[in-house]
Amino acid sequence: MKKYVLDFRITENVKLHDNYALLKLTPADGQPLPEMLPGQFVEVRVDRSPSTFLRRPISINFVDYTQNELWLLIRIAGEGTRTLCGMQAGEILNLVLPLGSTFTLPENPTEKLLLVGGGVGIAPMLYWGKYLKEKGYTPHFLLGFRSDKDLLQYDQFCQLGEVSISTEDGSRGEKGFVTQHSILEQHFDRLYVCGPKPMMVAVARYAREHGLFCEVSLENTMACGVGACLCCVEDTVEGHVCVCKEGPIFNIEKLKWQI
Ligand SMILES: Cc1cc2nc3c(=O)[nH]c(=O)nc-3n(C[C@H](O)[C@H](O)[C@H](O)COP(=O)(O)OP(=O)(O)OC[C@H]3O[C@@H](n4cnc5c(N)ncnc54)[C@H](O)[C@@H]3O)c2cc1C
Ligand code: FES
Repeated sequence: MKKYVLDFRITENVKLHDNYALLKLTPADGQPLPEMLPGQFVEVRVDRSPSTFLRRPISINFVDYTQNELWLLIRIAGEGTRTLCGMQAGEILNLVLPLGSTFTLPENPTEKLLLVGGGVGIAPMLYWGKYLKEKGYTPHFLLGFRSDKDLLQYDQFCQLGEVSISTEDGSRGEKGFVTQHSILEQHFDRLYVCGPKPMMVAVARYAREHGLFCEVSLENTMACGVGACLCCVEDTVEGHVCVCKEGPIFNIEKLKWQI
């Protein structure tokens, strides 16, 4: 897919939580958004943070072609993301996009699909859920958070399919980790997962034990985002590959994880 370096205007910065912001963006020149696929990401230039030299990779959270709007869900992890979360409507963000691979669309729309997200790892699942629904699939979401106050974008997920919640302290949904949720007693054909690595490994283990198709979205540390610097390599059955170019979406059968 063709890559673009584009300026976007922030139309809204929605403070979802102390540590999270949802940036809604539209192309600054008024041109239509380029095609973007679920699971892909953008590399954001952080202009107002002199110590943030490299662009930061952020997942495509949602794309609304009718509003010509792209959403980025950002968790404050350090200086770069803190600066991004503090930006105001009207300011300009420079993005390289769309980067990386997409999830695999099942051939059969009747397959039962579970989209699992943990923390800010829910970000790519919203656009993937929308995409699936528009193509006639019925996604089910399993979202995991530390506690009720960390819940993100619940209403948007509910518009796309059934939503199951687990929280570590039991303040919302079922208590525990996503892999302990009772929804997993039901049969699913495919699992798609994004979140902290221990969570993805646990879901991958569950998928392998049950012989299920499972794709995970890796968040290895990145710099260039286009396969040039080799700082994001992952060991796979096909050798070392750049997650930014060959991924971030991988079938678990390709990964040399201890699962
Ligand atoms: C494909 C991909 C998609 C991502 N999607 C999202 C998203 O939708 N929302 C979101 O909030 N975050 C996302 N991240 C993580 C986000 O890129 C990092 O939190 C961010 O780069 C940290 O930058 P910082 O300057 O705030 O923190 P720093 O002070 O640089 O570091 C703070 C922490 O972030 C980690 N980190 C630093 N730089 C990177 C980097 N380039 N790539 C990955 N981790 C890094 C460090 O290991 C450290 O633990 C994604 C990462 C990847 C690889
Ligand atoms: S981030 Fe440079 S090769 Fe992947």
